[in-house]
Amino acid sequence: MPEIEVFAPAKVNLALHVTGQRADGYHLLDSLVAFAPAGDRLRFAPAEAMVLKVSGPEARGVPEGPENLVLKAAALYGPGPAAAIHLDKCLPAASGIGGGSSDAAAALRAMARLRAVPLATGPAVVNLGADVPMCLDPRPARTRGIGEELTPVRLPPLPAVLVNPRVEVATPAVFKALVCKDNAPMDEIPAFADAAACIAWLARQRNDLQAPAVALAPVIAEVLAALEALPGCLLARMSGSGATCFGLFESDAAAAAAQERLATTTPAWWSAHGPLGDQAEAAAPRFI
Ligand code: C5P
Repeated sequence: MPEIEVFAPAKVNLALHVTGQRADGYHLLDSLVAFAPAGDRLRFAPAEAMVLKVSGPEARGVPEGPENLVLKAAALYGPGPAAAIHLDKCLPAASGIGGGSSDAAAALRAMARLRAVPLATGPAVVNLGADVPMCLDPRPARTRGIGEELTPVRLPPLPAVLVNPRVEVATPAVFKALVCKDNAPMDEIPAFADAAACIAWLARQRNDLQAPAVALAPVIAEVLAALEALPGCLLARMSGSGATCFGLFESDAAAAAAQERLATTTPAWWSAHGPLGDQAEAAAPRFI
C-alpha cells in the first residue's frame, strides 16, 4: 500500500441564505460555496491499526481520538487495510470554513484510494457533517437542502483574504439566535463574465447567519470593518456560522497587500489570502 497525501481546502460560503427548518431541527440552506488555497494536509501511511496524530499551527485542542471526524470518516469503509494518519492542521477549528468537514472529506478520498474502493457517498457521509458532501469534490457549487444537494457552478477566481479573530462560535448557538428562519433563496446565478460581475451579484445576496453571529461575538463586526477599510476591498462578509470572514479584492496583489497589512495591525488574528474557486485538483490524493 503506497503512502499518500491529501489536501483539505478551506470552504467559504460566499452567500448563505437560511430558507427553512426541517422537523429534526436542521436548517434548510441555499448557499454558494467556493474553496481557498489555504487548507490542512493529511498523510496516510500503511499501519497495523488506524491511528491519528495531529500537529501544525492550529493543532491545539484538536482531538486525536475516535471523536475526530477524520477517524469517523475512515471508519465508514469498515474493516480492512489500516493507516497511520498525520493531520497538519493549518485552519482554525470551529471557524465557519469547514476545516473539520474538509479533513473528513479528505480522509474519505484517501481511504478510497488506499483500499481501491469507490468513494463513500450518501447519508453516511452527510451524517459526518452537513458540509462534508460539498468538500468531497472541492469545486464551486450551489448547495441546498442541509448542504447535501449540490449543483456545480462556474465561478471566476476571486482574489480573497480570510480572517479569523480567534473566537470560536458554536454553530448550533448561531442557528438558535437566528430570528427569521424562512428567508428568500439566493437569486438565480447567471454566467459571470468576470470577478467584478460575480462580486456585484454577491453584493445583492447575504449570509443570514452573520447578524446572529455578530450578536454572539461582536468582534466579527470589527473584522468586517477592518476588511472593508483595506484598499481594493469590494465586499466583506462572514463565512458559514463564523467567525471567519472573507474580503473579496480587486486583484491578487491587493489581497496580498491587505493580508500583510492585517498581519501588522492585528497580529493576533489568523489570516490567509489567495483566489477562491476550484481546489479539486490540489485536493486530489497524491502518491508520495
Ligand atoms: O452537520 P454538522 O455537525 O456540521 O452541524 C452542526 C450543528 O449545526 C447541527 O447540530 C445543527 O444544530 C446546526 N446545523 C443546522 N442546519 C444545517 C447545518 C447545521 O441547524 N444545515
